[in-house]
Amino acid sequence: MQRQKFHITAQKGWINDPNGPVFYKDYYHVFFQYHPYSTQWGPMHWGHVRSKDFVKWEYLPVALTPGDEIDKDGCFSGSAAVVGERLYLMYTGVVNRDGKCFQSQCIAFSDDGVRFEKYPKIVIGRDLLPEGFSPCDFRDPCVFEKDGAFYALVAARKGDSSDILLFRSPDLRNWQCKGPVLDYPSTGKMIECPCWSEKEKLLLYSDQFSLPKGAEHLNIHSNFYRAGTLDCAAAKFSTEKEGIVDYGFDFYAAQFFANTEKAVMIAWMQMWDRNIPCRNEGFAGMLTLPRYVENRNGAFYQTPVSLEKYAYSSERFEKRNFAGTIETKGKIYELIIEGKGVKKFVLEVKKSDTETTKIEIKEGFLVFDRSQSGERIDGAEKDELSLAHIRKMPLNDAENPDMHIAVDRFSVEIFSEGKAMSNTVYPKADADGVTLNVAAEFIVMKLNRLNFS
Ligand code: FRU
Repeated sequence: MQRQKFHITAQKGWINDPNGPVFYKDYYHVFFQYHPYSTQWGPMHWGHVRSKDFVKWEYLPVALTPGDEIDKDGCFSGSAAVVGERLYLMYTGVVNRDGKCFQSQCIAFSDDGVRFEKYPKIVIGRDLLPEGFSPCDFRDPCVFEKDGAFYALVAARKGDSSDILLFRSPDLRNWQCKGPVLDYPSTGKMIECPCWSEKEKLLLYSDQFSLPKGAEHLNIHSNFYRAGTLDCAAAKFSTEKEGIVDYGFDFYAAQFFANTEKAVMIAWMQMWDRNIPCRNEGFAGMLTLPRYVENRNGAFYQTPVSLEKYAYSSERFEKRNFAGTIETKGKIYELIIEGKGVKKFVLEVKKSDTETTKIEIKEGFLVFDRSQSGERIDGAEKDELSLAHIRKMPLNDAENPDMHIAVDRFSVEIFSEGKAMSNTVYPKADADGVTLNVAAEFIVMKLNRLNFS
């Protein structure tokens, strides 16, 4: 069976959001929304993997299984916190009753990072919701410790709009609502998966049916960041700058790792309301490569974690005007590119006689085209670019580009100028050619051929 090699997928079944990414007892742990019994979304479990280096992941037993009184119908997304020697997970327990889906916040804990025990009571229930907020869209707690207290940011809907509620607790069990924090509303219908980095002063959230802004936020549901300050005493977030987190087709529910020195982010590399061709391979859904994130004067700046140690062979090219083939000798590799005086740049990957995935610099944009990438992916998006299977990322300096491209069996992630584009592709097995067509003063390219066996 064909598989992603350096991205988190399920062994079988369905996955969506990353949950509770955390560094705990020598490992980076990632949990994820998981339905082990089919390649469709179903009653949510928390799948679990861990890694020493963000790249090679080891499967662990399912951490949370739904079915208790507090989470009879699902363990939805959430986060993790390390308190002393103990790892805590905070998640949304789902209970369906009278045709409605009730959501409340629950906790579980572990002392070895492998086996988890649920605390049997709801810790943030509907009784703590401020007036007007719905108990049916009240989910995805982001828990963190600050100044000797615990806080949780929880997404909640109020009428046709939504906000992020801040809760405070002395002990993770007894909570009190401090109020909604956003200084202005989102453009979508329901905020999901809020996440706060105190270190970088960055708030992440996903937004269902958010409105497009030019060539940005074209995905039917999109990820946003806000750079600013979170005043926990006043329960107010003041936004200094906001923007898109990733310009690609497949990126949602991004989360920061807890308990790491630098801010590291991981997201679901997929989108709701689209067909997912890898279902034929027995799994559906994958996560992105983790990325280091910095707040650079309000700009969201991300760079991928290193794959270097998995390079079994490397080559360095220097090209001026060039049109030809790059021998990657396999389906998984990374390309690190720097250019000067670039007039033309067309890189085609995953190429065969009938298929190609195109990365081009055009009119100041990095343009990603998966219209001929293999199995067709159709979504709910109806704008021109989406229908043409194209995404665009603006470049500040298109003539002197820097690029880092990570190619796995079913994905192409492109990083440039601290921005990123994450995309899935489903080519046939024989589509593994690479060609480059450039006109430039020079292009320097490092190719790392990767091996993970
Ligand atoms: C986001 C989301 C979350 C929810 C989870 C359910 O993709 O809808 O809001 O907790 O997925 O699987």
